[in-house]
Amino acid sequence: MRSDVLLYFDDEAGAALRLAQAASLAPAPVARHRFPDGEIRLQLPDPLPARVVLLRTLDRPNDKLIELLLAARTARTLGARHLTLVAPYLAYMRQDIAFHPGEAVSQRIVGRFLAELFDAVITVDPHLHRVTALQEAVPVAQAVALSGAPLLAELIAQRRPGALLIGPDSESAQWVSQAAARHGFEHAVCAKQRRGDHEVDIQLPALPVAGRPVVLLDDVASTGNTLAQAARLLRAAGAATVDVAVTHALFAGDAAQCLREAGVGEIWSTDCIAHPSNAVFMADILADALKRLD
Ligand code: R5P
Repeated sequence: MRSDVLLYFDDEAGAALRLAQAASLAPAPVARHRFPDGEIRLQLPDPLPARVVLLRTLDRPNDKLIELLLAARTARTLGARHLTLVAPYLAYMRQDIAFHPGEAVSQRIVGRFLAELFDAVITVDPHLHRVTALQEAVPVAQAVALSGAPLLAELIAQRRPGALLIGPDSESAQWVSQAAARHGFEHAVCAKQRRGDHEVDIQLPALPVAGRPVVLLDDVASTGNTLAQAARLLRAAGAATVDVAVTHALFAGDAAQCLREAGVGEIWSTDCIAHPSNAVFMADILADALKRLD
């Protein structure tokens, strides 16, 4: 094939074509057939050039990890010498220790699995809690962690100038303070205690919110309960509006509806995961990272 290739799956065609254009890559779909018993068959372009990029965001990750195994191993047999995974959302990063005896430390296991398949991994706002560098979780030659926060901050500055920017937990301080430094938002974070998959306790920061537009900024909304609980408290405290901006729109089940019922107005997300709330596109930022790889 002519130039470096971007392999992608049909359900990510939109993001793939944006990335291919931004990074000057030749887009090539991977054909996929699902057998009645649930197994899959993949077919890649043959032959492949020496440098190949594979785009696969890892929401709903379990089937996709098998796809990565089949696609990466096949790409090597078809001529790929340098294989980069662009996984805008990187799954299984939250279980970084065994919280109870016998638990699988999924972050390490999935990280090593990816490192055995790829030469480079690029992702966005990976959920790294107890490790500081992506390479500790994904021990690959080049591990690149980008952020969606600057794009979201720019959007918030346009749509809600003068908003109070709130992070729903202490971990969100990194994105909130970064966005505030750039656009001068007043900002703070809540305190959060998780009691289960669907139960969180939130304490609002001690600053007046009555009559003010508030935007909640976080890396990921999964069940939506974290943001919904923060929004409920903010509305009860008199916030004029509460909007939400997240890098990763996982929105499991009825998460979006749960946010609306909590009094959230706008929901904005990056296109790391395709979702109707996507309001900013990561293609240029991902393309820059691809160009900087060895
Ligand atoms: C946790 O620290 C993350 O930043 C998110 O706040 C969390 O994963 C959101 O989960 P959920 O939407 O299920 O409350």
